Order: sequence, then structure tokens, then C-alpha cells
Amino acid sequence: MDIIEVIKTRRSIRKYKPDPISEEEINKILEAGRWAPSADDSQPWNFIVLRSQEMRKKLASELIWGRFLSQAPLGIAVVVSPRASSHPAEDGAAATQNMLLEAHSLGLGACWIGTYGGTSEAGAKKVLNIPENERLLSVIVIGRPAESPQKMRRTLSEITFTDRYGRR
Ligand SMILES: Cc1cc2nc3c(=O)[nH]c(=O)nc-3n(C[C@H](O)[C@H](O)[C@H](O)COP(=O)(O)O)c2cc1C
Repeated sequence: MDIIEVIKTRRSIRKYKPDPISEEEINKILEAGRWAPSADDSQPWNFIVLRSQEMRKKLASELIWGRFLSQAPLGIAVVVSPRASSHPAEDGAAATQNMLLEAHSLGLGACWIGTYGGTSEAGAKKVLNIPENERLLSVIVIGRPAESPQKMRRTLSEITFTDRYGRR
């Protein structure tokens, strides 16, 4: 698949087969995150690979919109350090998206669980032992897809202006 096909065919997958994810696949996903752009090349992230089912279950109980993590064979938590970057949320989002795209290109299904500033962040940080001054940007849930949802997008003519906001 070329990049635009990967981008367009990626969907948020929330149902998974129980098959494990290999170390090679995990490494490829992490590499995609590592090579994301970041403000001033600050690379303000750490990735916590959730290998143990016990941890995934514990964390899932803190994620109001991510309970399905307990049914997945893998999760990756993206932690950002606000002191290390002028744009920690954007940096962590870029790393998260890179990992979602790589997971999809490997034939895996994944879903972004938003935690940053949300109601789930404090409890999830406690479970993962994340220091007070670090932020939990997202949790990526990953597995072999057991569903194939469809999505639409707003059309280009709806979302695109020329030269000035509002000018079609
Ligand atoms: C910042 C962000 C936070 C999200 N949080 C959640 C979440 O907590 N739970 C969930 O099931 N999906 C979450 N999603 C996935 C979106 O619901 C999904 O991307 C959107 O519905 C479009 O569907 P698609 O990814 O299949 O194209 C999140 C996506 C983003 C970008």
C-alpha cells in the first residue's frame, strides 16, 4: 500500500482476535512513533508497551472510552513531557498517528484512546506509575482486527477555502 492508501483505509478498530502481536511488529510500530516530527526536534515522548494482560485490564478500568483495551493483546501508552517541548500535545499526537498508520500497514487494527486532559488521565497515570509532571497523551489499543467498520469524511469542497478563511 502506498501512503495515501494506508491513510485512507485505516479505521479505528475496537474488536480484536486473541492472537498475540510479535516483537517484530511491536518494534516496527514503536519505530514509526520514534520518527514522528516534534517541535524543535524535542522528542518529548516515552512509550509504555503494555505487555501484561493484568496491566491492560487495570488500565482499561480507568479508561471510560477505552474499556476494550482489556480484550486486546497489546496496548501502547504515549507519555509526553511538557517541560521538554513547547508543543507536547502535538508531538505526542504525531507519534500516536504514526503508530496507528504503521499498525494498519502491518495488517493490524488499532484505536486511539484520548486521555490528555480528560477524565481518564489521572487514574490511568496512577496505574502506569507516570510521574506527576509528565502527561499521558494517549493509549493505543492494538490487535488483529475482528471488525471492519466504514467511515465517511466531510468533502474537500466543504472543508477547503482559498487564500482567506470563508472564501470558496
Ligand atoms: C484525539 C482522539 C481521541 C480519541 N479517543 C477515543 C476514545 O477515547 N475511544 C475510542 O473508542 N475512540 C477514540 N478515538 C477514535 C475516533 O473515535 C475515530 O478516530 C473517529 O471516530 C474516526 O474514525 P476512524 O478512526 O475509523 O476513521 C479518538 C481519536 C482521536 C484523534
